[in-house]
Amino acid sequence: MRHLLDTRTLSRDEALRILDVAEDMADTQQREVKKLPTLRGKTVVNLFFEDSTRTRISFEAAAKRLSADVINFSAKGSSVSKGESLQDTAQTLQALGADAVVIRHGASGAPRTLATSGWISAGVVNAGDGTHEHPTQALLDAFTMRKRRYGADSRGRDLAGVRVTIVGDVLHSRVARSNVWLLDALGADVTLVAPPTLVPQDVSAWPVRVRYDLDEAIAGGLDVLMMLRIQAERMNAAYFPTEREYSRRWGLDSGRLAALGPGSIVMHPGPMNRGLEISADAADSPRSTVLDQVTNGVSVRMAVLYLLLAGNDARDEKEDAR
Ligand code: NCD
Repeated sequence: MRHLLDTRTLSRDEALRILDVAEDMADTQQREVKKLPTLRGKTVVNLFFEDSTRTRISFEAAAKRLSADVINFSAKGSSVSKGESLQDTAQTLQALGADAVVIRHGASGAPRTLATSGWISAGVVNAGDGTHEHPTQALLDAFTMRKRRYGADSRGRDLAGVRVTIVGDVLHSRVARSNVWLLDALGADVTLVAPPTLVPQDVSAWPVRVRYDLDEAIAGGLDVLMMLRIQAERMNAAYFPTEREYSRRWGLDSGRLAALGPGSIVMHPGPMNRGLEISADAADSPRSTVLDQVTNGVSVRMAVLYLLLAGNDARDEKEDAR
């Protein structure tokens, strides 16, 4: 794997390979010494032009547990705020010897620009670009769903037949987009539930069913209920009358939580707006996988960095030996 820019172009087999390597990584994280020597001597740069807590520290933990050197570069307080271009920043990273660049950017497509520009030779991982994609989030979500369903027996399995309902601000959500493509590749059955104003216009071309009524969607039966954050920072207009009205119609509260069938789980990528899209008791209930998602995120990002930085070497070595 050279880069990870999206899930839209990821095949079922490529996705399963990442998820299976993530299982191996998760096993190593049960040991007393969590650190592996695998990426010793490699440099991973976290290049964050947009705020992030969990994604950035998750990539940092993943790189460190593989013994890579990590450089955190956040655009605030850097020369980017003085108007330095992506090109100049990238060329600086190249001169520093970056082997992988993990980039989060407000502009959809920035990671692809970086990967295809010729400015750098490093592998590029998209850690969220505008409203476009957030592939490692979808991979950790799929990992979490697979683990809840198949436990220790997860390897090699896809998500065929799993009914996933994604609720809320789909319009602004790169998490929803990456999940839709990945879940489709893995054979899951995806329903989106949102106010009509928060459904993207091109949704008719997506492999999903769209509904507007959350109670009907829950009554119809589901295995995974994924709540999305209302992305107030990306909203330039009023997409719903009031927060109270939004919560009442599209929020997960105790009543809706109680209506979920046995075995179904509640997911949220974080950060949560408690009391808006999800109530505190739903967020903290035993059905909630929010903290599992965070833990699994480290294993999935370890797998991605490994496949980007060591996977190719391992294959080249095998090829050389032949
Ligand atoms: C998501 C993001 O930044 O796209 N968060 C995350 O990566 N944990 C989702 C969100 O901000 O709503």
